Amino acid sequence: MLENEGQCADQSKRDFMVLSASATAAVACACAAVPFIGSMQPAADVLALASTEVEIGDVKEGDIKRVMWQGKPVFIKHRTEKEIEAARKDDSAQMPDPEKDEVRVKKGKEKWLIVIGVCTHLGCIPTNNTGDFNAWLCPCHGSHYDTSGRIRKGPAPKNLPVPPYEFVSDTMVKIG
Ligand code: FES
Repeated sequence: MLENEGQCADQSKRDFMVLSASATAAVACACAAVPFIGSMQPAADVLALASTEVEIGDVKEGDIKRVMWQGKPVFIKHRTEKEIEAARKDDSAQMPDPEKDEVRVKKGKEKWLIVIGVCTHLGCIPTNNTGDFNAWLCPCHGSHYDTSGRIRKGPAPKNLPVPPYEFVSDTMVKIG
């Protein structure tokens, strides 16, 4: 065997070993990635917190149901005709965070107002069916919200936020 041939054979062996080692490493990485990616899927209890289904068939007109969603209180208000009218009548009134009532509710489901029950001033929980607008009053520094959850008076700068939600049926709403 010529000396050159011997060198070529050694080189091929080395190349093969490097390739084999790379392929083994790639397979090991792929195997390790599967459980890792699996662990990135949200756990069932996290998913449950991401959204919550609430029965609303038992909420009488004028009443409010309070539920927790993602650690925050959510108010589900079954508005009366009078409350809807009051909110719509004030659509063009001066307010700190102007917003029409119709964009804060779902079309055809105007009787349901769903808002996060945390005052936008410093985070207290407003009390229901009170205040100058017969809707919510924050007891901490006196912010008054109307029947659309809009800030009308007091130091709070923003309306009560509307969370993402959808009606699953006439009597069930999914928040989140
Ligand atoms: S926290 Fe509600 S008015 Fe200040």
